[in-house]
Amino acid sequence: MSKTKTGIINVTGYTGIELVRLLHGHPDVELTSVTSRSAAGKPLGAVFPHLNHLKLIVEETLDKVDVAFSAMPHKESVEVILPLVEANVKVVDISADFRLRDTGDYPRWYGFEHPDPELLSKAVYGLPELYRKQIASAQIVANPGCYPTSAILALAPAVKAGLITPDVIIDSKSGVSGAGRSLNLQTHYAETNEDVAAYSLGGHRHLPEITQELKLLGLTRPSVTFIPHLIPMTRGILTTAYAPLVSGKIDRSETGKTELRKLYLDFYQNEPFVKVTESPPHTKHTWGNNLCLVYPTIDERTGRLIIISCIDNLVKGAAGQAVQNMNLMLGLPETTGLESPAIYP
Ligand SMILES: NC(=O)c1ccc[n+]([C@@H]2O[C@H](COP(=O)([O-])OP(=O)(O)OC[C@H]3O[C@@H](n4cnc5c(N)ncnc54)[C@H](OP(=O)(O)O)[C@@H]3O)[C@@H](O)[C@H]2O)c1
Repeated sequence: MSKTKTGIINVTGYTGIELVRLLHGHPDVELTSVTSRSAAGKPLGAVFPHLNHLKLIVEETLDKVDVAFSAMPHKESVEVILPLVEANVKVVDISADFRLRDTGDYPRWYGFEHPDPELLSKAVYGLPELYRKQIASAQIVANPGCYPTSAILALAPAVKAGLITPDVIIDSKSGVSGAGRSLNLQTHYAETNEDVAAYSLGGHRHLPEITQELKLLGLTRPSVTFIPHLIPMTRGILTTAYAPLVSGKIDRSETGKTELRKLYLDFYQNEPFVKVTESPPHTKHTWGNNLCLVYPTIDERTGRLIIISCIDNLVKGAAGQAVQNMNLMLGLPETTGLESPAIYP
């Protein structure tokens, strides 16, 4: 049987090149076309020497493919996707251009009017743990943001069970690759090495996405404080989410903690890429693989739920989740090409 032809738009970004790594190891698809502005016309190995053995020439525009991944910056992404959708190509968009249900959120958070609200309404939010069925029949899947993936998977079981009040605090720490490959002063080695700082305190772009999904999960009028931090590592996101427990729902004692753990284990029991851990997870435990590790507990003194989660921002937070979505869209086993363990140490 011939393999499904896949292509990557903007292979010179970090998520684009991570897609090359994952698709190269995928048995059922073939990577036939990759694009970039700066590298067009060059062999991929000339730009990324570690991929010298792949005989791909970078192009300016995508060849005919069955599935396209857009790893473009927001606003640019929707522009390249529209003609692909017209041509009936299945698309996984790694940018934010199809993630938000409310068109008014685009000018507010991303600074542009969405050019195709009708198509936006047809896109499926690509978090397989919540939307597996819809993803399978979608033509366009909006791959979730990296921070939202870690935050929503951390909170989903508690929200679904009605355990927490809407007053949610999400504290996330990201490695520097989350900011992308383009040069900017904030991500220079001398600025980030041995440094940790919070940013976007006035409202990060991932806030409306997290709020949207918590609401859809059943949290009434969520009041979310989301504070991201940049830390001196290459990959990884560690998220700690806090929320007061609804009184009378679950005990603050050891018994309550055991019940909470069981609730999380049950919720994720059939999920290949979400694992409930027995102790707080480390970002190193997901380095290079598609897992999200989740550790739920209760602060006995304050009655607050505390959930710690971690992912690799470039894998479950971007390229790995995109391949997981593609597998679902093609009717392949969801884990195909994604089963390698984390790199350790
Ligand atoms: N990094 C992450 O952890 C992460 C996670 C989830 C989602 N995302 C999303 O995925 C998309 C790609 O992110 P990334 O981090 O991979 O990007 P990136 O590393 O910042 O990509 C940088 C490359 O994008 C190209 N580019 C920059 N501006 C462009 C423009 N206006 N039009 C066309 N190409 C442009 C440039 O390549 P050329 O000059 O060679 O064309 C540049 O080298 C973004 O929408 C981002 O929000 C990123």
